[in-house]
Amino acid sequence: MLRVRHEVDGSSGLLRAEEAAVPEAGAGELLVRVEAIGVTLPTVRRLRDSREPLPLGGEIAGRVVATGPGVTAFAVGDRVTGLCFADAYAEFAVLPTAMASHVPDDATAVEAVALVRSGLVARGAHEAARIEPGESVLVTAAAGGVGTLALQFATAGGAGRVVAAVSSAAKAGLVRSLGADEVVLYRDLDRSGPYDAILDGVGGDLLAPAVRTLAPGGRLVAYSSGGGTVEAYELLLRGASVIGFQIRALATGRPELYARWRDDLWHRRAAGTLRPAVHTPLPLADAALAHTLVEQRRNLGKVVLVP
Ligand SMILES: NC(=O)c1ccc[n+]([C@@H]2O[C@H](COP(=O)([O-])OP(=O)(O)OC[C@H]3O[C@@H](n4cnc5c(N)ncnc54)[C@H](OP(=O)(O)O)[C@@H]3O)[C@@H](O)[C@H]2O)c1
Repeated sequence: MLRVRHEVDGSSGLLRAEEAAVPEAGAGELLVRVEAIGVTLPTVRRLRDSREPLPLGGEIAGRVVATGPGVTAFAVGDRVTGLCFADAYAEFAVLPTAMASHVPDDATAVEAVALVRSGLVARGAHEAARIEPGESVLVTAAAGGVGTLALQFATAGGAGRVVAAVSSAAKAGLVRSLGADEVVLYRDLDRSGPYDAILDGVGGDLLAPAVRTLAPGGRLVAYSSGGGTVEAYELLLRGASVIGFQIRALATGRPELYARWRDDLWHRRAAGTLRPAVHTPLPLADAALAHTLVEQRRNLGKVVLVP
Protein backbone atom coordinates (compact mmCIF):
# COMPACT_ATOMS: atom_id res chain seq x y z
CA MET A 1 0.00 0.00 0.00
CA LEU A 2 1.01 3.64 -0.41
CA ARG A 3 2.01 5.48 2.77
CA VAL A 4 3.45 8.94 3.38
CA ARG A 5 6.12 9.28 6.05
CA HIS A 6 7.70 12.31 7.73
CA GLU A 7 11.49 12.55 7.40
CA VAL A 8 14.01 15.16 8.43
CA ASP A 9 16.71 15.93 5.91
CA GLY A 10 19.32 18.27 7.40
CA SER A 11 17.25 21.06 8.94
CA SER A 12 14.04 20.67 6.94
CA GLY A 13 11.20 18.18 7.27
CA LEU A 14 9.76 16.46 4.24
CA LEU A 15 6.95 14.07 3.42
CA ARG A 16 7.95 11.01 1.43
CA ALA A 17 5.54 8.60 -0.29
CA GLU A 18 6.63 4.95 -0.15
CA GLU A 19 5.32 1.38 -0.40
CA ALA A 20 4.62 -0.20 3.00
CA ALA A 21 2.99 -3.34 4.40
CA VAL A 22 -0.68 -3.12 5.37
CA PRO A 23 -0.76 -2.78 9.20
CA GLU A 24 -2.75 -5.05 11.53
CA ALA A 25 -5.42 -3.99 13.99
CA GLY A 26 -4.44 -4.69 17.60
CA ALA A 27 -6.74 -5.02 20.61
CA GLY A 28 -9.45 -2.37 20.54
CA GLU A 29 -8.45 -1.18 17.06
CA LEU A 30 -9.95 -1.09 13.56
CA LEU A 31 -8.11 -1.56 10.28
CA VAL A 32 -9.64 1.00 7.92
CA ARG A 33 -9.36 1.26 4.14
CA VAL A 34 -8.85 5.00 4.03
CA GLU A 35 -10.94 7.12 1.66
CA ALA A 36 -10.09 10.60 2.98
CA ILE A 37 -7.50 12.21 5.25
CA GLY A 38 -7.89 15.66 6.79
CA VAL A 39 -4.86 17.94 6.83
CA THR A 40 -4.69 20.27 9.82
CA LEU A 41 -2.60 23.35 10.57
CA PRO A 42 -1.32 21.98 13.94
CA THR A 43 0.06 18.90 12.13
CA VAL A 44 1.61 21.03 9.40
CA ARG A 45 3.28 23.21 12.06
CA ARG A 46 4.48 20.26 14.17
CA LEU A 47 6.12 18.50 11.24
CA ARG A 48 7.64 21.67 9.83
CA ASP A 49 9.23 22.62 13.15
CA SER A 50 10.48 19.18 14.21
CA ARG A 51 14.15 18.22 14.00
CA GLU A 52 13.15 14.54 14.46
CA PRO A 53 10.97 12.37 12.22
CA LEU A 54 7.46 12.30 13.73
CA PRO A 55 4.59 9.82 13.46
CA LEU A 56 2.08 11.20 10.96
CA GLY A 57 -1.21 11.20 12.85
CA GLY A 58 -4.42 12.71 11.58
CA GLU A 59 -8.13 12.48 10.87
CA ILE A 60 -9.23 9.74 8.52
CA ALA A 61 -12.50 8.36 7.16
CA GLY A 62 -13.10 5.09 5.35
CA ARG A 63 -14.45 1.55 5.67
CA VAL A 64 -13.54 -1.02 8.33
CA VAL A 65 -11.83 -4.06 6.73
CA ALA A 66 -10.74 -5.87 9.94
CA THR A 67 -11.28 -5.54 13.67
CA GLY A 68 -8.80 -6.35 16.44
CA PRO A 69 -9.51 -8.46 19.53
CA GLY A 70 -12.17 -7.10 21.90
CA VAL A 71 -13.94 -4.84 19.38
CA THR A 72 -17.74 -4.98 19.74
CA ALA A 73 -19.08 -1.57 18.74
CA PHE A 74 -17.80 -1.72 15.14
CA ALA A 75 -17.84 -4.42 12.44
CA VAL A 76 -16.23 -5.10 9.10
CA GLY A 77 -17.98 -2.98 6.46
CA ASP A 78 -18.82 -0.07 8.81
CA ARG A 79 -18.01 3.41 7.56
CA VAL A 80 -16.07 5.30 10.21
CA THR A 81 -14.10 8.44 10.90
CA GLY A 82 -11.68 9.39 13.66
CA LEU A 83 -8.22 10.42 14.73
CA CYS A 84 -5.25 8.06 14.15
CA PHE A 85 -2.13 8.62 16.21
CA ALA A 86 0.33 7.36 13.58
CA ASP A 87 0.53 6.45 9.89
CA ALA A 88 -2.74 8.20 9.06
CA TYR A 89 -1.46 9.29 5.62
CA ALA A 90 -1.85 5.83 4.06
CA GLU A 91 -4.22 3.63 2.05
CA PHE A 92 -4.90 1.55 5.18
CA ALA A 93 -4.69 2.89 8.73
CA VAL A 94 -5.21 1.62 12.26
CA LEU A 95 -7.89 3.55 14.16
CA PRO A 96 -8.44 3.06 17.93
CA THR A 97 -12.15 2.45 18.59
CA ALA A 98 -12.01 5.08 21.35
CA MET A 99 -11.38 7.68 18.62
CA ALA A 100 -13.82 6.27 16.05
CA SER A 101 -17.41 7.15 15.18
CA HIS A 102 -19.82 6.05 12.47
CA VAL A 103 -20.36 8.00 9.24
CA PRO A 104 -23.97 8.21 7.96
CA ASP A 105 -24.68 6.27 4.73
CA ASP A 106 -25.45 9.39 2.72
CA ALA A 107 -22.25 11.24 3.65
CA THR A 108 -18.94 10.98 1.82
CA ALA A 109 -15.63 10.27 3.53
CA VAL A 110 -14.40 13.69 2.42
CA GLU A 111 -17.37 15.34 4.17
CA ALA A 112 -16.68 13.28 7.31
CA VAL A 113 -13.09 14.48 7.73
CA ALA A 114 -14.15 18.04 6.96
CA LEU A 115 -17.12 18.03 9.32
CA VAL A 116 -16.44 16.14 12.54
CA ARG A 117 -13.29 17.39 14.23
CA SER A 118 -13.36 20.87 12.72
CA GLY A 119 -17.08 21.09 13.48
CA LEU A 120 -16.51 20.15 17.12
CA VAL A 121 -13.87 22.87 17.44
CA ALA A 122 -16.18 25.40 15.76
CA ARG A 123 -19.10 24.41 18.01
CA GLY A 124 -16.93 24.50 21.12
CA ALA A 125 -15.52 27.93 20.30
CA HIS A 126 -19.02 29.23 19.52
CA GLU A 127 -20.47 27.90 22.79
CA ALA A 128 -17.55 29.30 24.80
CA ALA A 129 -18.21 32.80 23.37
CA ARG A 130 -21.79 32.83 24.80
CA ILE A 131 -23.06 34.92 21.88
CA GLU A 132 -26.39 36.69 22.44
CA PRO A 133 -28.85 37.33 19.57
CA GLY A 134 -27.94 40.50 17.70
CA GLU A 135 -24.32 40.64 18.86
CA SER A 136 -21.45 41.37 16.48
CA VAL A 137 -19.04 38.50 15.87
CA LEU A 138 -15.63 38.31 14.22
CA VAL A 139 -14.41 34.92 12.95
CA THR A 140 -10.70 34.81 12.08
CA ALA A 141 -9.09 32.20 9.81
CA ALA A 142 -12.64 32.21 8.47
CA ALA A 143 -11.89 30.38 5.21
CA GLY A 144 -10.16 27.41 6.93
CA GLY A 145 -11.61 24.07 7.98
CA VAL A 146 -12.75 25.31 11.40
CA GLY A 147 -13.50 28.89 10.39
CA THR A 148 -15.94 27.98 7.60
CA LEU A 149 -17.99 26.02 10.15
CA ALA A 150 -17.60 28.61 12.92
CA LEU A 151 -19.07 31.23 10.57
CA GLN A 152 -22.14 29.05 10.08
CA PHE A 153 -22.57 28.50 13.84
CA ALA A 154 -22.39 32.26 14.36
CA THR A 155 -25.04 33.06 11.75
CA ALA A 156 -27.32 30.18 12.83
CA GLY A 157 -26.98 31.33 16.46
CA GLY A 158 -28.58 34.67 15.67
CA ALA A 159 -25.57 36.98 15.67
CA GLY A 160 -26.44 40.41 14.32
CA ARG A 161 -23.28 41.13 12.33
CA VAL A 162 -20.88 38.37 11.34
CA VAL A 163 -17.51 39.48 9.97
CA ALA A 164 -15.04 37.04 8.41
CA ALA A 165 -11.33 37.87 8.73
CA VAL A 166 -8.98 36.39 6.13
CA SER A 167 -5.54 37.12 4.71
CA SER A 168 -6.54 37.45 1.08
CA ALA A 169 -9.42 38.96 -0.88
CA ALA A 170 -9.53 35.74 -2.93
CA LYS A 171 -11.30 34.12 0.06
CA ALA A 172 -14.14 36.66 0.21
CA GLY A 173 -16.53 34.77 -2.08
CA LEU A 174 -16.32 31.57 -0.03
CA VAL A 175 -16.89 33.19 3.35
CA ARG A 176 -19.77 35.31 2.05
CA SER A 177 -21.41 32.19 0.61
CA LEU A 178 -21.29 30.71 4.13
CA GLY A 179 -23.09 33.63 5.73
CA ALA A 180 -20.50 36.33 6.45
CA ASP A 181 -22.09 39.79 6.29
CA GLU A 182 -18.70 41.45 5.78
CA VAL A 183 -15.13 40.43 5.02
CA VAL A 184 -12.07 42.09 6.51
CA LEU A 185 -8.38 41.58 5.76
CA TYR A 186 -6.20 41.24 8.86
CA ARG A 187 -4.35 44.46 8.05
CA ASP A 188 -7.65 46.40 8.30
CA LEU A 189 -8.85 44.73 11.48
CA ASP A 190 -8.43 47.78 13.75
CA ARG A 191 -11.00 49.73 11.68
CA SER A 192 -13.59 46.94 11.62
CA GLY A 193 -14.80 46.58 15.23
CA PRO A 194 -16.11 46.75 17.86
CA TYR A 195 -17.02 43.09 18.35
CA ASP A 196 -18.98 41.48 21.15
CA ALA A 197 -17.34 38.15 20.39
CA ILE A 198 -14.29 36.94 18.46
CA LEU A 199 -13.70 33.31 17.50
CA ASP A 200 -9.96 33.38 16.89
CA GLY A 201 -8.19 30.66 14.93
CA VAL A 202 -5.07 32.73 14.21
CA GLY A 203 -3.50 33.88 17.52
CA GLY A 204 0.14 34.98 17.53
CA ASP A 205 0.65 38.59 16.47
CA LEU A 206 -3.07 38.97 15.70
CA LEU A 207 -4.17 38.35 19.27
CA ALA A 208 -3.33 41.78 20.71
CA PRO A 209 -4.95 43.81 17.88
CA ALA A 210 -7.97 41.52 18.00
CA VAL A 211 -8.41 42.17 21.75
CA ARG A 212 -8.33 45.93 21.02
CA THR A 213 -11.38 45.52 18.75
CA LEU A 214 -13.50 44.00 21.55
CA ALA A 215 -16.54 45.95 22.70
CA PRO A 216 -17.13 46.50 26.43
CA GLY A 217 -17.84 43.09 27.93
CA GLY A 218 -16.51 41.38 24.79
CA ARG A 219 -15.24 37.79 24.72
CA LEU A 220 -12.42 36.41 22.58
CA VAL A 221 -12.24 32.64 22.30
CA ALA A 222 -8.64 31.59 21.60
CA TYR A 223 -8.59 28.19 19.93
CA SER A 224 -5.61 28.55 17.57
CA SER A 225 -2.25 26.81 17.75
CA GLY A 226 -0.67 30.21 17.07
CA GLY A 227 -0.02 31.22 20.70
CA GLY A 228 0.13 34.95 21.42
CA THR A 229 0.13 37.30 24.38
CA VAL A 230 -2.70 39.31 25.90
CA GLU A 231 -2.15 42.50 27.94
CA ALA A 232 -4.24 42.26 31.11
CA TYR A 233 -4.69 46.04 31.08
CA GLU A 234 -6.33 45.87 27.61
CA LEU A 235 -8.87 43.43 29.07
CA LEU A 236 -9.45 45.59 32.13
CA LEU A 237 -10.08 48.67 29.95
CA ARG A 238 -12.94 46.88 28.18
CA GLY A 239 -14.14 44.54 30.90
CA ALA A 240 -13.35 41.93 28.27
CA SER A 241 -12.27 38.33 28.61
CA VAL A 242 -10.23 35.75 26.73
CA ILE A 243 -11.37 32.15 26.92
CA GLY A 244 -9.38 29.15 25.72
CA PHE A 245 -10.94 26.19 23.94
CA GLN A 246 -9.32 22.87 23.11
CA ILE A 247 -11.13 19.91 21.59
CA ARG A 248 -8.92 17.34 23.33
CA ALA A 249 -9.94 18.70 26.72
CA LEU A 250 -13.60 18.30 25.73
CA ALA A 251 -13.10 14.77 24.36
CA THR A 252 -11.38 13.53 27.51
CA GLY A 253 -13.17 15.70 30.11
CA ARG A 254 -16.76 15.66 28.76
CA PRO A 255 -17.06 12.60 26.48
CA GLU A 256 -20.89 12.57 26.63
CA LEU A 257 -21.09 16.20 25.49
CA TYR A 258 -18.48 15.49 22.79
CA ALA A 259 -20.62 12.60 21.45
CA ARG A 260 -23.82 14.69 21.62
CA TRP A 261 -22.23 17.57 19.72
CA ARG A 262 -20.80 15.14 17.16
CA ASP A 263 -24.27 13.67 16.49
CA ASP A 264 -25.69 17.17 16.25
CA LEU A 265 -23.15 18.03 13.51
CA TRP A 266 -24.53 15.21 11.37
CA HIS A 267 -28.14 16.31 12.10
CA ARG A 268 -27.34 19.86 11.02
CA ARG A 269 -25.66 18.59 7.86
CA ALA A 270 -28.68 16.40 7.06
CA ALA A 271 -31.00 19.36 7.63
CA GLY A 272 -28.86 21.47 5.29
CA THR A 273 -28.00 24.03 7.98
CA LEU A 274 -24.28 23.15 8.22
CA ARG A 275 -22.11 22.64 5.18
CA PRO A 276 -18.46 21.61 5.38
CA ALA A 277 -16.35 23.55 2.88
CA VAL A 278 -13.60 21.54 1.22
CA HIS A 279 -10.68 22.70 -0.88
CA THR A 280 -10.38 20.60 -4.07
CA PRO A 281 -9.17 17.22 -2.69
CA LEU A 282 -5.60 16.18 -3.54
CA PRO A 283 -4.20 12.67 -4.09
CA LEU A 284 -2.36 11.12 -1.11
CA ALA A 285 0.93 11.22 -3.04
CA ASP A 286 0.60 15.03 -3.06
CA ALA A 287 0.67 15.29 0.75
CA ALA A 288 3.65 17.66 0.65
CA LEU A 289 1.74 19.95 -1.70
CA ALA A 290 -1.25 19.87 0.65
CA HIS A 291 0.94 20.92 3.57
CA THR A 292 2.42 23.74 1.48
CA LEU A 293 -1.08 24.92 0.59
CA VAL A 294 -1.98 25.23 4.29
CA GLU A 295 1.33 26.76 5.27
CA GLN A 296 1.06 29.39 2.53
CA ARG A 297 -2.51 30.13 3.64
CA ARG A 298 -3.95 29.46 0.20
CA ASN A 299 -6.66 26.91 1.10
CA LEU A 300 -10.34 27.59 0.59
CA GLY A 301 -11.95 25.29 3.16
CA LYS A 302 -10.62 22.07 4.62
CA VAL A 303 -7.64 20.47 2.91
CA VAL A 304 -8.29 16.77 2.25
CA LEU A 305 -6.10 14.00 0.80
CA VAL A 306 -7.72 11.13 -1.07
CA PRO A 307 -5.79 7.83 -1.41
N1 LIG B 1 -8.32 24.23 19.87
C1 LIG B 1 -8.43 23.09 19.21
O1 LIG B 1 -8.81 22.06 19.75
C2 LIG B 1 -8.08 23.09 17.75
C3 LIG B 1 -8.29 21.95 16.97
C4 LIG B 1 -8.01 22.01 15.61
C5 LIG B 1 -7.49 23.18 15.06
N2 LIG B 1 -7.26 24.24 15.88
C6 LIG B 1 -6.71 25.50 15.36
O2 LIG B 1 -7.66 26.13 14.57
C7 LIG B 1 -6.99 26.97 13.65
C8 LIG B 1 -7.56 26.73 12.28
O3 LIG B 1 -7.32 25.37 11.98
P1 LIG B 1 -7.96 24.74 10.67
O4 LIG B 1 -7.88 23.27 10.82
O5 LIG B 1 -9.24 25.39 10.37
O6 LIG B 1 -6.90 25.17 9.60
P2 LIG B 1 -6.93 24.93 8.06
O7 LIG B 1 -8.22 24.45 7.55
O8 LIG B 1 -5.73 24.11 7.78
O9 LIG B 1 -6.76 26.40 7.53
C9 LIG B 1 -5.59 27.07 7.75
C10 LIG B 1 -5.91 28.53 7.55
O10 LIG B 1 -5.62 29.18 8.77
C11 LIG B 1 -5.24 30.50 8.50
N3 LIG B 1 -4.04 30.83 9.27
C12 LIG B 1 -4.04 31.69 10.28
N4 LIG B 1 -2.82 31.82 10.78
C13 LIG B 1 -2.01 31.04 10.04
C14 LIG B 1 -0.63 30.77 10.06
N5 LIG B 1 0.19 31.34 10.95
N6 LIG B 1 -0.14 29.88 9.17
C15 LIG B 1 -0.94 29.30 8.27
N7 LIG B 1 -2.28 29.54 8.21
C16 LIG B 1 -2.80 30.40 9.09
C17 LIG B 1 -4.98 30.59 7.02
O11 LIG B 1 -6.01 31.36 6.43
P3 LIG B 1 -5.96 32.96 6.54
O12 LIG B 1 -4.57 33.35 6.21
O13 LIG B 1 -6.96 33.46 5.56
O14 LIG B 1 -6.33 33.25 7.96
C18 LIG B 1 -5.02 29.18 6.52
O15 LIG B 1 -5.51 29.10 5.22
C19 LIG B 1 -5.52 26.63 13.75
O16 LIG B 1 -4.85 27.60 14.51
C20 LIG B 1 -5.53 25.33 14.47
O17 LIG B 1 -4.36 25.13 15.21
C21 LIG B 1 -7.55 24.21 17.19
